[in-house]
Amino acid sequence: MNDLIVQNFDRFLARPHMIWATLAYVILLVGLSLRKKNRLLHGRLMGFAIFLDLALVLLLQIERNAIDTAVNLRLTPLQMCHVLSSTIATVLYFPTLYFGFKCLRQIGSPTADRPMLRKKHLRFAVPAFIFRTIGFLFMFSLLPKD
Ligand code: HEM
Repeated sequence: MNDLIVQNFDRFLARPHMIWATLAYVILLVGLSLRKKNRLLHGRLMGFAIFLDLALVLLLQIERNAIDTAVNLRLTPLQMCHVLSSTIATVLYFPTLYFGFKCLRQIGSPTADRPMLRKKHLRFAVPAFIFRTIGFLFMFSLLPKD
């Protein structure tokens, strides 16, 4: 059992993209945990984590044409789940960012319709986070077997 964990961890460490994605996910978790205590820091951390995620998508696209691999169905069902969930999360990131920045701009403004903006932000942010979490978990199905 111990050997299995050590072997899998070694394989994980050999995959810089997975370390990158894990770092982004940890920053998302920290940012999410701060949403009530510090809205400004929440926004900054979420924005940074989303930037890391989008940069990784771009890098993978350039390096090995990830979309082509997915479309050609050379993936197992679990790996497909990773690709699909991560793609949905990536699409949802854009409206999340849009309304997130709007929320940030209205901090301290007496005229802003805060509950309405917050509602719109959450409508995209919550599913984005759920799909990102599913994509993150299924990412480990992409670890090479040997
Ligand atoms: C997947 C990404 C994100 C998730 C899951 C998320 C989640 C949330 C949640 C749950 C709240 C409500 C906090 C409460 O209970 O009062 C919130 C509020 C907020 N978020 Fe995000 N967020 C994300 C991304 C962002 C981004 C990228 C920004 C800014 C660029 C941002 C800015 C804000 C601000 C300013 C608020 C406070 C709104 C208010 O109470 O007036 N968020 N977010």
